[in-house]
Amino acid sequence: MAKKFRQAEVNIGMVGHVDHGKTTLTKALTGIWTDTHSEELRRGITIKIGFADAEIRKCPKCGRYSTSPVCPYCGAETEFERRVSFIDAPGHEALMTTMLAGASLMDGAVLVVAANEGVMPQTREHLMALQIVGNRNIVIALNKIELVDRETVMKRYQEIKEFVAGTVAENAPIIPISALHGANVDVLLAAIEKFIPTPERDPNKPPKMLVLRSFDVNKPGTPPEKLIGGVIGGSIVQGKLRVGDEIEIRPGVPYEEHGRIKYEPITTEIVSLQAGGRFVEEAYPGGLVGVGTKLDPYLTKGDLMAGNVVGKPGKLPPVWDELRLEVHLLERVVGTEDELKVEPIKRKEVLLLNVGTARTMGLVTGLGKDEVELKLQIPVCAEVGDRVAISRQVGSRWRLIGYGFIKE
Ligand code: GTP
Ligand code: MG
Ligand code: MG
Repeated sequence: MAKKFRQAEVNIGMVGHVDHGKTTLTKALTGIWTDTHSEELRRGITIKIGFADAEIRKCPKCGRYSTSPVCPYCGAETEFERRVSFIDAPGHEALMTTMLAGASLMDGAVLVVAANEGVMPQTREHLMALQIVGNRNIVIALNKIELVDRETVMKRYQEIKEFVAGTVAENAPIIPISALHGANVDVLLAAIEKFIPTPERDPNKPPKMLVLRSFDVNKPGTPPEKLIGGVIGGSIVQGKLRVGDEIEIRPGVPYEEHGRIKYEPITTEIVSLQAGGRFVEEAYPGGLVGVGTKLDPYLTKGDLMAGNVVGKPGKLPPVWDELRLEVHLLERVVGTEDELKVEPIKRKEVLLLNVGTARTMGLVTGLGKDEVELKLQIPVCAEVGDRVAISRQVGSRWRLIGYGFIKE
């Protein structure tokens, strides 16, 4: 009998320093290797956000957790707990703004720390990113434990305890694992079940999807009458979407007027929906959702729509060309070895802003006490009160220096 397909109900981020084993752990939990792009394979690093879903299951006989219908520990049939989606983020320091876009979709996260290296700059920067987007459901995986001796594992444990003291991860459990050998992942899954609950959702709220990618799925040379409309991918953060729904996309598509680039919201219809890789009639928050539209695929090719917000026409948040933020600066630049002091924001400085899955540059046009006004290069669709991650160019890299809340 065909099992009814369930969509994932919660997004769990895989975050942490480069090469600490996020993609390997995602594979150990889901069977899916999320690094698929040619450059990722060539360089051996994650570049784009990857999604991989799994069913978390519990064995009624031995009580251990797995993602398999048959218990790998005692052979009994396991019971379904919930379906989850892992969001595998890149750890490389140059890809911090990609991580931040992914972080805006995470309901909780596994912070991966390799036992042979310990707490590293992007361990700090990713934890700060979780804190900034308001994510408090964190489990720490101390990975690669088979590479070090017992004493080192204990030392790392202490080091992590000190590192998380006073942060949102203060009470996060620290689970020693080997992602490569699949060791102790049952304990990690148990911790995920306990510490990363599925958020309460109100399905009657107007839908809102944050766009992370977009595609043209047509092969080159497809005749116009056979062209399939543009496809946009992201995660629903509120409400639900249905095939046949009229949708609006904001800030929309760029056009030129008097030599200036402007954006115009567009409306279209949902012609197909995919959730967790399967065609569905209705899609909800949790995992990657693909929305087939009637848009000209030219508009959606190569992630052109990333950073947009999708919802019901007239029900989306406003679009901002300028932002006024209540600003909170960090004391130190956490993502670097030397942890430089964060200097105050200056007038005419250009900052990089992450708002949901959108990123844009902002020219500082005004400064007040704990307040900054910016003129945006690309407008953003967001609510008053939404969080904005603020990065500044330090040396050759964009570094997280603080966050803000959108003011009226
Ligand atoms: P980025 O996405 O680039 O930040 O890296 P990542 O955190 O996804 O690391 P990835 O999973 O690509 O693993 C990096 C290297 O560490 C690979 O060579 C893995 O085989 C290795 N690795 C991951 N987990 C383990 C582990 O538990 N033990 C050992 N010995 N090696 C591991
Ligand atoms: Mg990776
Ligand atoms: Mg890697």
